[in-house]
Amino acid sequence: MLLRYKKSYEKIAMGLLSFVPSEKDLKKLQQTIKQYEEDDDWQLFLWKEEDIIGIIGIHVEGDTAVLTHLSVNPSHRNQGIGRKMVMALRDQIGNKYRLVPSNQIKEFYDKCLDQEDGHS
Ligand SMILES: CC(C)(COP(=O)(O)OP(=O)(O)OC[C@H]1O[C@@H](n2cnc3c(N)ncnc32)[C@H](O)[C@@H]1OP(=O)(O)O)[C@@H](O)C(=O)NCCC(=O)NCCS
Repeated sequence: MLLRYKKSYEKIAMGLLSFVPSEKDLKKLQQTIKQYEEDDDWQLFLWKEEDIIGIIGIHVEGDTAVLTHLSVNPSHRNQGIGRKMVMALRDQIGNKYRLVPSNQIKEFYDKCLDQEDGHS
């Protein structure tokens, strides 16, 4: 289930975001979380099963939502969670925005869509 970010999730959100290659630096990570908290065009969601195990963030530019951050807790990887988050987000925002991946996420995103089309 996708949950919209709120301040009480800050610690878990920062932990998950820290696995994203561009967020390794603590200062950069703090700036990123601040941006999601303060700028309505930056929207962050957490993925909850029994626990919160993933995070996905978009940056809205007009009618386009750029998929900017995506991360799954290392203990839960390779179980389809990343793909599930992408598809759930696409369903949630699809009638409002066109979802496109950032360069960093493009390869994984294309892979998610390929599976939807029934390719390997
Ligand atoms: C990328 C990430 C979110 C995938 O989450 P996940 O829940 O393991 O993904 P899924 O189980 O849905 O899919 C797993 C598949 O994606 C592939 N994959 C993992 N990372 C990938 C990447 N950066 N680019 C392309 N494919 C990738 C896996 O090799 C696996 O492929 P297979 O099914 O052919 O074996 C996770 O590896 C992660 O959190 N990485 C660190 C954060 C990060 O690098 N984010 C930005 C890059 S997307």
